[in-house]
Amino acid sequence: MEEKFRSKDPELIVIYGRRRIGKTELIARFVRGKPAVYFLADRRPERDLLEEFRGKMSQVLGDESFSKLEISGWLELFKEFLKWWKGGRVIIVIDEFPMLIEDDKAIPSVFQKIWDLELENSQVMLILLGSSISMMETEVLSYRSPLYGRRTGQWKLQPLRFHHLRGFFKEYLRRISLGFTGVSAEFRPIFLSLTQMSRSGITWLLEYSGKASSFMARLNSC
Ligand SMILES: Nc1ncnc2c1ncn2[C@@H]1O[C@H](COP(=O)(O)OP(=O)(O)OP(=O)(O)O)[C@@H](O)[C@H]1O
Ligand SMILES: [Mg+2]
Repeated sequence: MEEKFRSKDPELIVIYGRRRIGKTELIARFVRGKPAVYFLADRRPERDLLEEFRGKMSQVLGDESFSKLEISGWLELFKEFLKWWKGGRVIIVIDEFPMLIEDDKAIPSVFQKIWDLELENSQVMLILLGSSISMMETEVLSYRSPLYGRRTGQWKLQPLRFHHLRGFFKEYLRRISLGFTGVSAEFRPIFLSLTQMSRSGITWLLEYSGKASSFMARLNSC
């Protein structure tokens, strides 16, 4: 995502995955400190959604008058925003994009138009998020979707598995041992016991999950 952000090319990124997997959190952390419009779609009428979106855009533009514009639809909203945007990279996130489609089946075609006419030659990074896997796959990613061939990146978020922890613990223990060399002599016994406690804690955790022996063997070889 960071690489895509730095590229300065127009980007259409699709991120999806089951409920509570961490999609919103991932994006919230990614956009922190960057020029970004974050919009969470819901089941309110389109008019209300456009009004809220316009308000969010006016915040990133730093111009209150943008929120007072008369805007009749999604295409016009993006068109106006790009007219007002001073240039440079900007991220626009639509979280729960399938909610818009549920309400209006023409939304993928509308966003195809927005992409082709407005965003394709801009520095906008448009991120579409969704928890409805079937809707994201059929209405956004599939060959049948009007948005087909536009996306420049897609991620299906998966839950963290046990084998992912290996890399994490390796890094964790490396940092502990690096820290140890910088600890002054009188604190070393305390630091050492903390380190041993962490190791015992990890061992207990792994034993509890029945994976200790193979994991510790690998860990000891780091
Ligand atoms: N990397 C993380 N570290 C710690 N907590 C996390 C992390 N990612 C997500 N969480 C927590 O997990 C919960 C679910 O995350 P989040 O709301 O981002 O998921 P989601 O996929 O957007 O869910 P939904 O489909 O309901 O919108 C939240 O309480 C969030 O704070
Ligand atoms: Mg979410």
